Amino acid sequence: MNEQPLIYLDNAATSFPKPESVYAAVDQYNRQVGAPIGRGAYRKSIGLQASIDRCRKRAAEVLGAARPEEVAFTFNGTDSLNTMIHGVLKPGDHVVTSDVEHNSVLRPLQTLKERWGLETTFIPADQSGVVDAAAFREVIRDNTRLIILNHASNVTGSIQPVNDVGEIARNAGVLFLVDAAQTVGHLPFNVSQMPVDFLACPGHKGLLGPLGTGLIYIRSELVDQVDSFRQGGTGTLSEEETQPQTLPDKFESGNHNAPGLVGLSASLEYLQERGISAIREHEQALTARLIEGLQSLPGFDLSGPKQVEDRVGVVSLISQTVEPQVLASILDENFGIQTRAGLHCAPRIHRAIQSLNSGGTLRFSPGPFTTMAEIEATIAAMQELADSFTG
Ligand SMILES: Cc1ncc(COP(=O)(O)O)c(C=O)c1O
Repeated sequence: MNEQPLIYLDNAATSFPKPESVYAAVDQYNRQVGAPIGRGAYRKSIGLQASIDRCRKRAAEVLGAARPEEVAFTFNGTDSLNTMIHGVLKPGDHVVTSDVEHNSVLRPLQTLKERWGLETTFIPADQSGVVDAAAFREVIRDNTRLIILNHASNVTGSIQPVNDVGEIARNAGVLFLVDAAQTVGHLPFNVSQMPVDFLACPGHKGLLGPLGTGLIYIRSELVDQVDSFRQGGTGTLSEEETQPQTLPDKFESGNHNAPGLVGLSASLEYLQERGISAIREHEQALTARLIEGLQSLPGFDLSGPKQVEDRVGVVSLISQTVEPQVLASILDENFGIQTRAGLHCAPRIHRAIQSLNSGGTLRFSPGPFTTMAEIEATIAAMQELADSFTG
């Protein structure tokens, strides 16, 4: 590998770097605290509990939850989605979801389909990877219990009409789960002002926390509609063998990821200070330049909406001639640019954007610490590659 500094453009998978305060908080916990959450009467454990309570409060503020208890901690976005999907759905149910979804939605649904015959309907996406909200209304049945929709695609970056779909769900008396893996921390929103019942997201992507952290938002009046997916010790009501039924304990069994959560608390504080609107503005400027620089490269097609208002900072290129994995390797080895290639665990959307035959896409996902100079270097590298393939 050459000596160029590395450029990290895989923030859609997990954000890197994290704010300095995250590294410091994790290190401080590991070296000086080491206690479990909610299980000790000694001072360090009590102090840790206060830090976790602060983390929950900050998470509720960042998401716009009405109460901190409406946020439960999980271990990643996949864990959050599984908790909700397996917790809500019962034999005889029908689910409406979309072709934009990630495998962390598709696979739990397919598992329930194979296990006890869950009925599913998938709403297709258009060529830029966006679903039509009205199409959801058409397919709701008497036994439709849940609608699941991705907030923004991890392939095309396209923002989905979650408010419109949420209204349709609410009017029909159907529960609504949003997968906010690619929007939380990138796009300002307030979940309690949206027609959203449940929201699942990782803590390690846009929220800038460590890997091994995730969150679910559960509208408090709906807690009885969701069974606990995992049962066990919560450090509360220990004399009872029945799982606590209150938020957040119902969904937080077992020793939690204390170093991850103190790191997440630090990253949430960073987000609150910098402001998600400011991050959105920064990422929009990077994305606009990336689109401008990549859209006319010979031999490539850019997928997703062209307007930055309609998307998050996830930009995918479809190569007409070269495998995306080959391109990603060359970018890494020759230019020190780290991207992701392939289907990105979201197989269905590739039919809509016509990238199945080309092996998926080459994906660039800048983050809050990406600089414009790094974007310029990426565009120049891609230009050089495109010239070498056409030349
Ligand atoms: C849209 C979407 N949903 C869910 C997930 C799963 O999140 P995690 O990697 O934290 O399990 C991802 C991860 O890339 C994603 O992009």
